[in-house]
Amino acid sequence: MLTLDRVCFYYKKGEPVLENLSFTVQAGEYAAIVGPNGCGKSTLAKLMDGLLLPKEGHVRLEHLDTSRPAELAQIRGRIGFVFQNPEDQFITTTVMDEVLFGLENIRVPREEMAGRALEALRAVQMEEHAEAMPHQLSGGQKQRVAIAAILAMRPEIIIFDEATSMLDPLGRKQVLDIMRSLHRAGMTIIHITHHMEEALEAKRILLLHEGRLAYDGDPFRFFDELPVADYHLELPFSVRVHQKLRLEAPFHADWKEAVRTQWPIS
Ligand SMILES: Nc1ncnc2c1ncn2[C@@H]1O[C@H](COP(=O)(O)OP(=O)(O)OP(=O)(O)O)[C@@H](O)[C@H]1O
Ligand SMILES: [Mg+2]
Repeated sequence: MLTLDRVCFYYKKGEPVLENLSFTVQAGEYAAIVGPNGCGKSTLAKLMDGLLLPKEGHVRLEHLDTSRPAELAQIRGRIGFVFQNPEDQFITTTVMDEVLFGLENIRVPREEMAGRALEALRAVQMEEHAEAMPHQLSGGQKQRVAIAAILAMRPEIIIFDEATSMLDPLGRKQVLDIMRSLHRAGMTIIHITHHMEEALEAKRILLLHEGRLAYDGDPFRFFDELPVADYHLELPFSVRVHQKLRLEAPFHADWKEAVRTQWPIS
């Protein structure tokens, strides 16, 4: 359970980015965080992971508090973070080293390392590229390696900050499939995205606007009731089609049902 308790944050005093923000993400949830450019999504993600500390309020993972230095390392070990740009993710020279690097950092016993690294690479279908170098990989493959490096550390929560936005449709689909299967396996997924099709897959949508939560709830009500265009967001294609169909043939169309059958949300 990850809790934000009256969190305030600014980079420059007098210019608040987040104001008095409180919410909880339960273990096993699949939540999307959406909102216009610059509304503070990445800032929020970094606060959740303890990369930034709140100016006021608290961020807690169960009883651990990011503001307490002794607890920060534990929190960082339990929350993984996948960034937007696959080019920024590599630190080492090969795929295998990249995954091992994280394990060395958290002092996994040497005899366990190779097994854990291989298992993680298999989970993202990159085991055949274990000896490849970063420049030999596509953007989507790099993102999958970044995910493997995190999986090997066995976190409870993974935050994806626009992790699909620089990928082509196939790369995006592969990363989304991984997210979905991790969620099914019990992982807590926090997905920051501008793609409303992707947000539709989440069970919960949090809309960040002017430092506060303008919406927190299920995607169906979000797309049915909210003037999403006011937040510089676009309705998903399936919702647009069904809303139009519903206007023209009311007996025919329930977009929620269609979405549920297409993407069963557990
Ligand atoms: N390191 C920084 N120093 C100063 N201001 C920053 C810094 N990082 C972000 N900001 C500012 O904080 C606000 C929130 O930025 P943030 O990156 O969290 O937004 P975002 O919702 O992730 O945007 P995007 O959708 O473009 O990724 C913006 O006004 C931004 O200019
Ligand atoms: Mg961002």
